[in-house]
Amino acid sequence: MHYGGDYNPEQWPEDIWPEDVARMREAGVTMVSLGIFAWSKLQPAEGEFDFGWLDRIIDLLHEGGIAVDLATATASPPPWATSTYPEMLPQDENGSVYWPGSRQQFAPSSPGYRRLAGELVSRLVERYHEHPAVVMWHVNNEYGCHLNADYSDAARDAFRVWLADKYGTVDALNEAWGTAFWSQLYGSFAEIFPPRKAPYSHNPAQLLDFHRFTSDALFECYLMEKRIIRAAGATQPITTNFMGAFKPADYWRWAAEMDVITDDCYPDPNDPQSFRAGAFQRDLMRSLKPGVPWLLMEQSSNALSWRPTNAPKSPGQMRALSMQAIARGADGILFFQWRQSRSGSEKFHSAMLPHAGTRTRTWREIVALGDELAGLPALPASSQEARVAIVLDWENWWALENPDHPVVLDYLSLVQNWHFALHQQNVQVDFVRASADLSGYQLVIAPQLYLLRADGAAGLTAFVEGGGHLLVTAFSDLVDEDERFRPEGYLTQLGPLLGIWLEDFGALVAPGAAGAGQSTAPLGSPLGSVTGTFLAEEIHPIEAVVLGEFTAGRLDGRPAFTRNDVGAGRAYYLATIPDAAGAVTITAHLLAEAGIEPVLPGLPITVEAARRGDVVTVINHGDTPVDLVLPGTDLQRDAPAGAVTLAPFDVRLLRLP
Ligand code: GAL
Repeated sequence: MHYGGDYNPEQWPEDIWPEDVARMREAGVTMVSLGIFAWSKLQPAEGEFDFGWLDRIIDLLHEGGIAVDLATATASPPPWATSTYPEMLPQDENGSVYWPGSRQQFAPSSPGYRRLAGELVSRLVERYHEHPAVVMWHVNNEYGCHLNADYSDAARDAFRVWLADKYGTVDALNEAWGTAFWSQLYGSFAEIFPPRKAPYSHNPAQLLDFHRFTSDALFECYLMEKRIIRAAGATQPITTNFMGAFKPADYWRWAAEMDVITDDCYPDPNDPQSFRAGAFQRDLMRSLKPGVPWLLMEQSSNALSWRPTNAPKSPGQMRALSMQAIARGADGILFFQWRQSRSGSEKFHSAMLPHAGTRTRTWREIVALGDELAGLPALPASSQEARVAIVLDWENWWALENPDHPVVLDYLSLVQNWHFALHQQNVQVDFVRASADLSGYQLVIAPQLYLLRADGAAGLTAFVEGGGHLLVTAFSDLVDEDERFRPEGYLTQLGPLLGIWLEDFGALVAPGAAGAGQSTAPLGSPLGSVTGTFLAEEIHPIEAVVLGEFTAGRLDGRPAFTRNDVGAGRAYYLATIPDAAGAVTITAHLLAEAGIEPVLPGLPITVEAARRGDVVTVINHGDTPVDLVLPGTDLQRDAPAGAVTLAPFDVRLLRLP
């Protein structure tokens, strides 16, 4: 179990370093991420490197028994670099330059940036790859953070090359993008631009390809660094830190090239429900690389500095959220950052060692957690404990949020709505791609799978044919990978499986918005009434049985929820998007039908339970104590768990028979 955080010794005089190491030992720190934003200290000028200070701190850490996750330091190029090579600077869609003075001021496609980053990484890896303190490589930092897309000339040139690689000929691109519409026929790749500011909506296929390109451009930077590290003979695991479900980068693709998944997660202490967002993020991290424990690479010890209001964590909350990560597959808890900065943009951001020193609650909690983690027995790796999976697909995310649709949808919140509903019932959930092998699951939920490739449709179909229960929801299976409707209408791939056809979408006026239209779509069924939102689709059952009907509005009496039995399998369709309560009602029905049990039954609403092998972790995220009767052995007390009063943010780890 790793424990530690980002360590930025370059912000401090060297005479503080020995104290840092001593305090780290006191706190039980086992590993630090070193030098993440140290490029300007490591390379004060082109061709001039200064590794003396890094040598000294790595040796000092090593003597103190603290391992190093060595950063490649490429996330914030030094001022000399961007002054000498201004073409390295990224631009927004209006052509405005993102100037230096902050961080992440690099155009991922810039050949100059890649050359300089590559040189720095080569020097670092050459020098340190055999150092016994270095146990992991931390490539860059949060790729795409702040700068979600770059529209610079470097991006323009690289986008053209990317398109030429993909399509071969410009005719093929014209066909795929449907450029006959609005006189967009291109005569050569040199006529194509990133979707810079235009008078009106861009071609949706161009937007979609630009999302793919952007994810790939960032990914190429990662791969470039990874190749350099491996080519130098380094054998340590290589990672880059993720940011949960982050739209600009398709983490499914990235995960395959990461030795270990690492994640930065900052739930808002002001939001009493943010532990659900935490659980969502952690379940995604576990799912990205099944069977391989991931690391919580960054969290805060206490308050943040970048929200409009930055509440402190409650006493015990930092431990509770750390345990949530471990419960959901993490083998390490690290923080941003070790010592709170004295200057700079993040000086108000909490750290393991606060500015107010070791007499603080934060420090006491940090030391206590270090001690607790050191005392934990080795935990089994997660091994697909979940029987339920939710489809989460980046390409679909990009396409779904393209403009000019019947209604504006926020994919992440729609996916989370289902996850939260299941989490609230303490049902364990994985995330999957539709094309994955789904045979280990009993229930798969596919929210708004607007762009569905043939392999995804085949995956879902095979799942149902193999006896699985599948829920497909409104606005699914509408376009191909080029953002084109498929011939012959909607639901062209899944319609036969679902036993329905779809006539029209029926957008609803958002609740509270001005307009005479309908704002919600109530539907009733034997399982209870549900409020639909956003869309109320007009569907026609062919073979499916109707489980629920709209009970008001323009579709009053028309089918809203259907089921089609395919052998032992079932394919459900929901012709609207339920609100939070509706998602609970519907999932409760589906879980009962599929015979899926919660991790532990009958827990109060603020209590979560997650399973990792034979270990179940129970956490009270509420602000009042709860009385529970728990099964199994209390792992930390080595005694039967039984009746316990779980204080706010308290945790129990149980080993179940
Ligand atoms: C992360 C970043 C860290 C630090 C932290 C503050 O996004 O990787 O360097 O800025 O946020 O919460």
